[in-house]
Amino acid sequence: MSRRIVVTSALPYANGAIHIGHLVEYLQTDFWVRFQKMRGNECVYVCADDTHGTPIMVRARKEGITPEQLIARSHDEHAADFAAFGVGFDNYYSTNSPENKAFCEAIYAKMVETSALSSLQVPQMFCEHDKMFLPDRFIKGTCPKCGSTEEYGDSCSHCGSTYEPTDLKDAHCAICGGAPVMKDSEHIYFELEPHRDFLAKWLPEHTAEDVANKLMEWFGEPLRGWDISRDAPYFGFPIPGREGKYFYVWLDAPVGYMASLKNWCGKNGQTFEDWWQSDATEIYHFIGKDIVRFHCLFWPAVLKVGGFRGPTKVFVHGFLTVNGEKMSKSKGTFISARTYLDHLDPAYLRFYYACKLDGSTDDIDLNLDDFVLRVNSDLVGKITNLASRGIQMLRKNFEGAAGRMDAEGRAIWDDAVARADKIAELYETREFSQVLTSVREIAEEANKYFDRKAPWALVKTDRDAAREVLTSVVNVFRAMSIYLKPILPAYTDKVAAMLGEAPYAWADLDKPFEDRPVGAYEYLATRIDPKNVEAMVKASTI
Ligand code: MSP
Ligand code: ZN
Repeated sequence: MSRRIVVTSALPYANGAIHIGHLVEYLQTDFWVRFQKMRGNECVYVCADDTHGTPIMVRARKEGITPEQLIARSHDEHAADFAAFGVGFDNYYSTNSPENKAFCEAIYAKMVETSALSSLQVPQMFCEHDKMFLPDRFIKGTCPKCGSTEEYGDSCSHCGSTYEPTDLKDAHCAICGGAPVMKDSEHIYFELEPHRDFLAKWLPEHTAEDVANKLMEWFGEPLRGWDISRDAPYFGFPIPGREGKYFYVWLDAPVGYMASLKNWCGKNGQTFEDWWQSDATEIYHFIGKDIVRFHCLFWPAVLKVGGFRGPTKVFVHGFLTVNGEKMSKSKGTFISARTYLDHLDPAYLRFYYACKLDGSTDDIDLNLDDFVLRVNSDLVGKITNLASRGIQMLRKNFEGAAGRMDAEGRAIWDDAVARADKIAELYETREFSQVLTSVREIAEEANKYFDRKAPWALVKTDRDAAREVLTSVVNVFRAMSIYLKPILPAYTDKVAAMLGEAPYAWADLDKPFEDRPVGAYEYLATRIDPKNVEAMVKASTI
């Protein structure tokens, strides 16, 4: 029976460009979604720009435009980057939407109704010049521990210590440089402690063991309430009935998942109740390890109070390093999606990330030499060459007419097709690297067979036998490209077109391709020239 599945990736901040770190998340989510669709499941992948908060407001002011103009521009840029990398959202929306506002207000009303909130006067730094309370990241000063200057209000980039902004020496406003004053303001808190038992049970059922264990460390003491309000001026949704107060961006951001889905439902003749609210629907959030607390503590509790169901699972991935280190602007490894696209084919990055992803929370490394090697030796050398040689020989000598497989070739094809359940399970559990290991094994067998049979020589002595070999190679390659489709959709669509077939679904795997014509060979993938990688790094260096 077909499953009904909603999938989300975290909503990228409208405040910055998409970079190759982000893509670790959006690409793996896309692999998984495409796999589910190929299997015939009803799967909807929704996302949006995360548009609210102080940084957006400040940046818009600086550029002399409205926050709405700023987020419209980001939305277009992000959508274009994702499309170029083949990330196939069913809906890419915005948190600054009427659906989102309505959901936030409904959730807040429930919070009020069930006395889930408390309030507290908190002293906070305020800039008289900019007329605003300053979030930690908008306060700079000298680190109280090591004396490093111009550090942010929450942590020191030099010695790594964390502190309160009030601990900074010579604290000043990061926008105007002026000295802030302390000012009291009332903040609204969503109480978490009442959900202790619910969360302690929820965590191991909905997250991986290491994620749940890490979060359980917070349970040693009473769970602290979560500050969900911010003071004007703020770019966000006003809190109903609370003059000058806005919902904190992290309250409305995850609600944006539901808003994007609701918007998709509206455009597709569906109802939110049948999708999000139905127990028959599976809901999965893909997120990075830095935002686990928001998704696995606050979010399930907020949904419960708000009267909405929670996710089936939260899938947490690690961070990207490049050449073994954090992405760095001075080393040219802080590479934006745009800069990558200026120099390289997006399919290469999709392939490489798939080689590295194993469904765990471990960080993954993009080693640029290894990247070139893997693409050139595996994707081009082992996999694509098989098709280019096989198909071109079939075209040249037999006018593209595939015949039957021989016994040996059929055995290799049978073995390839017999891997279907195992490979499907690997996709399901997000072990993309093992999917590729399996495909590589098939390719190695097929290449050995091809070289052993030497069809380029065989064609001169036994044409029928040569045609059988080439037909077998085409069949094995066809199966491999179906397995690769979630990772390399454009590549596989070209294969289907070359073979005169409709775009492949999983169910097409075990259909033999015999006594049929093969179209002209079309470029599928070529080797990476390391010069292009160098140029990309150079263009990213500041
Ligand atoms: N706006 C929030 C998410 C709100 S979700 C309701 C946010 N945005 S982000 O743009 O900073 O990150 C978006 C996603 O990309 C997050 O899941 C984050 O973990 C992931 N990544 C951002 N940089 C990353 C790497 N360098 N490596 C891997 N993933 C990274 O957080
Ligand atoms: Zn200021």
